Amino acid sequence: MKIARFSRIGFILAAAGSAVGLGNIWKFPYIAGEFGGGAFVLVYLFTVLLIGFSIMIAEMLIGYLGRKDTVTSFEELAPKNKGMWKYGGFQGLAGLFIMIFYSVVIGWIFNYIVTSIFSLPATVEEAEITFTTMLHTDFITQLFYHTVAFIWITYVVNKGIKGGIEKLNMILMPTLMLILLGMFIYATTLGAFSQALEFMFSPDWSKIDSNAFVTAVGHAFFTLSLGMGAIMTYSASLEKHSNIVKNAFWVVFLDTSIAIVAGLMLFTFLYQYGGGPAKGPGLVFISLPAAFYEMGIIGNIFAVLFFIALAFAGLTSSVSLVEPMVQYFIDRFKWSRLKSSLSMGLFFYLVGIIALLSNIEGFQEALTWGDKSFFDWVDYVTAAIMLPAGGLVMALFIGFAVEKSRVEAVMRPQLRGAFEIWYFSLRYITPVAMFIVMLSLMGAI
Ligand code: PHE
Repeated sequence: MKIARFSRIGFILAAAGSAVGLGNIWKFPYIAGEFGGGAFVLVYLFTVLLIGFSIMIAEMLIGYLGRKDTVTSFEELAPKNKGMWKYGGFQGLAGLFIMIFYSVVIGWIFNYIVTSIFSLPATVEEAEITFTTMLHTDFITQLFYHTVAFIWITYVVNKGIKGGIEKLNMILMPTLMLILLGMFIYATTLGAFSQALEFMFSPDWSKIDSNAFVTAVGHAFFTLSLGMGAIMTYSASLEKHSNIVKNAFWVVFLDTSIAIVAGLMLFTFLYQYGGGPAKGPGLVFISLPAAFYEMGIIGNIFAVLFFIALAFAGLTSSVSLVEPMVQYFIDRFKWSRLKSSLSMGLFFYLVGIIALLSNIEGFQEALTWGDKSFFDWVDYVTAAIMLPAGGLVMALFIGFAVEKSRVEAVMRPQLRGAFEIWYFSLRYITPVAMFIVMLSLMGAI
């Protein structure tokens, strides 16, 4: 069978498509808001550069050397203890778990594209009622759009790396960047732009406690798509002699700049037309539509374009969340792509319905444990435990398990003088940092 490989630009767009997702446009602004902006943003940027970039290189390297699904790649690269290391490859499961709530959120976004065409809420209160009514009572609408998301994602994944995933990203990613850039330029002309700048970049260190710190680190992982085999699976389809460091740089650069551009734009609109940076997950679904309303007709256009961009960001990430396990069943069990895509799709679709129900009145109670609904649990367990654990395993794997000579042969020519620093950081700095993050997120310290 001929193996389809990404083109260079196709790979960068696909990996950036994976990284740029709901995390950048939906999550980042609201958690930055929750933790008071500036200082939080700087901790996040620092983590992205210090830990994120080096793990991104490690994850790409495992895929590039392994050339197979994540489990087989781990197995083949481990000189000893193959049986144990192969479990490292099951980090791909995290992607399917993330999809359980991710697909539901994409469904909300589809719904908002359609409703924004006709009307926007006139006040924040009205916006809040619209959103919470949908969330807590409107099962049918949510189910309908969750189904649309499932069909679209499964269709693209079924078309494979080249004909599905690369194509999707080649169209959606440039469109998304154009939309965001256009809206960002508009935002720079508004008076509140300087307030947004101030909010995002002037640090107030008193707001940073250990909780803010670990949230920033956890988010750096989530936003870069690290620790669940997405980047690894894509990298298995890299051309021979690809420059991993350059690719990793582009992905980190695009992901970070898009988060900053989106954040500045949103906060400008919220300062100018709304009540400033609102808190909580409702930011883009509640405060933002009300701010768009204040802008008049251009607000309507912006609202539709914004939710389209958000949907595109979510869809390009979704295909990368599903692909690792799809590839696993194809490689290991010789399933057809159709069977594999459909089975993985049905998994997140059906469990996603339970997540959806866990927000619906009448079902909420039965589907809530402790202080979190099933929906929130999935979000929490994946971001707080699974991704950092995946990152930890990869750092240890490249740092200690794979022979240094093998790592060096590929990476030294690309990293040159920085090779030893990168290697040292993977061996000692990253594992310790990841371990601390996991412990604190689990509430152990
Ligand atoms: N990076 C994506 C986002 O920011 C989410 C994601 C996580 C995608 C892990 C793939 C793997 O929304």
